[in-house]
Amino acid sequence: MTDTAVTPLDPAKVLAWFHEHGRHDLPWQHDTTPYRVWVSEIMLQQTQVGTVIPYYQRFMQRFPFLQTLAAAPIDDVLHLWTGLGYYARARNLHKTAQLVCSEHGGEFPPSQDQLENLPGIGRSTAGAILSLSMGQRGVILDGNVKRVLCRYYAIQRWSGDNQTQKTLWELAEQSTPSQQFAQYTQAMMDLGATLCTRSKPNCAKCPLSTSCQALALNLVNKLPVSKPRKTLPTRPVYMLLLQNNDQQVLLEQRPANGIWGGLWSLPEFTALDALQTWANSKHATLQHAWPITRHTFSHFHMDITPVPATLNHHGIADLQTGLCWYPLDQSVNVGLAAPVKKLLQQLAVSSQDAQ
Ligand code: ADE
Repeated sequence: MTDTAVTPLDPAKVLAWFHEHGRHDLPWQHDTTPYRVWVSEIMLQQTQVGTVIPYYQRFMQRFPFLQTLAAAPIDDVLHLWTGLGYYARARNLHKTAQLVCSEHGGEFPPSQDQLENLPGIGRSTAGAILSLSMGQRGVILDGNVKRVLCRYYAIQRWSGDNQTQKTLWELAEQSTPSQQFAQYTQAMMDLGATLCTRSKPNCAKCPLSTSCQALALNLVNKLPVSKPRKTLPTRPVYMLLLQNNDQQVLLEQRPANGIWGGLWSLPEFTALDALQTWANSKHATLQHAWPITRHTFSHFHMDITPVPATLNHHGIADLQTGLCWYPLDQSVNVGLAAPVKKLLQQLAVSSQDAQ
């Protein structure tokens, strides 16, 4: 949070906006029962409203009551979940239905702690069930609410770290009114989902814009801060750029599985002496290595040292399968790994310069 005095989030503004612009017609907003709200909240945990609606309707048709769900075979539940993903949610749903029947007489327990003890129900989902269906002041902090709060209070730390998580829960607690909490809960979700969106926030229409810290500090597009990237390990590789007299370069096909599976790449070595030995066996003469070029994957940096070389003879006598001569002008269509394509372009330029 910034040091300057910040106007606390005014729930009345959020509620006024909600009454006019919020979503009031979602299927789980009719016949609200803890069961119906719980199912909707679980489905909505990783999935957007538009995707959830048809699944929700089919689910409710097949399992209209908690008891129907508890008594059903798990395969029936999974079948109706097919396509929604994150199948642990469906298994937990089934387990929880059975537990509520066996341990709580078929009614969801109306307490935050007891709800949180049920499989698949975390702090925010318990808060949503309490406030949306049990007439209790439950507090939520789902992804939508986090985004609104991070922007409103200009929180410039990743929301997943423990301290920030604690701060956000405190702010969520403070912001939740003691009346109209069900509307407020839905309103904050709607605000996050329809106006305060991650990539296209519509601040002009936002009821909180006059006191939003991110807007005042021109940080809306920078917040919330994304998860810090781990420092990635570095893997050095040496790539041989072996050219023949016909303006062709030796390529090697990658194994079908793993990085660049099935693509064509340059012969690759983990150490320079291994490259040297291999090149000698092909009667190639190495030239000066080029500067290292970095290619970053999601889980490591590949630091490539390209080593150009020329062939002393016209060709390689026994060109094994998985190796081919490829024209430097890349006029033949094959799948090339991205940095290889770039290196071939550079080689084409430098060999033109040399002529
Ligand atoms: N996301 C999570 N819960 C929701 C709800 N009740 N309405 C809309 N989006 C949601």
